[in-house]
Amino acid sequence: MNLKDYVASIHDYPKPGIIFRDISPLMADGAAYREATKQIVDYAKEKAIDMVVGPEARGFIVGCPVAFELGVGFAPVRKPGKLPRETISVSYELEYGTDTLTLHADAIKPGQRVLVCDDLLATGGTVKATIELIEKLGGIVVGCAFLIELEELHGREKIKDYDILTLMDY
Ligand code: PRP
Ligand code: ADE
Repeated sequence: MNLKDYVASIHDYPKPGIIFRDISPLMADGAAYREATKQIVDYAKEKAIDMVVGPEARGFIVGCPVAFELGVGFAPVRKPGKLPRETISVSYELEYGTDTLTLHADAIKPGQRVLVCDDLLATGGTVKATIELIEKLGGIVVGCAFLIELEELHGREKIKDYDILTLMDY
């Protein structure tokens, strides 16, 4: 099975010049969704993962089935104002301005081994901020898994000290 057959490429969305890589056909096909999940689970199996963490919203789609298969928990990283209990936060640079991500303060225990999951690695800003949140709580990021990497944006350079799995390159 070629997973790229299940990614839709939409030109000029959400802005002129952008090619949006849409994973919803992959999620809609049981066999393709299962295959993508299996490839990440196979990568993670030998890493003694304690928790999976994923940023909203598409990080939930990738990370939750991986956590379920590994038999570990999942912690959501969310935009400010969405998590109801005590949180920690990290701000990061966007092309214009800054954005902030949050994580429940008790989501990760010191020393826990964490896998970060998301659908796509672009500039790397989201995953870098997610790693900072996990490390603030004393977690150890032992891998970062993505369905898609947009190579020309060099996001990989922002997380070069970490182990990375990507299933499809564009
Ligand atoms: C997308 C994608 C990644 C992030 C990648 O999420 O799902 O999380 O952008 O970009 P980066 O590497 O440049 O940070 P988005 O912020 O669009 O949110 P969504 O998942 O809620 O659609
Ligand atoms: N997130 C950032 N860039 C993206 C792209 N080109 N397609 C889908 N999601 C994205």
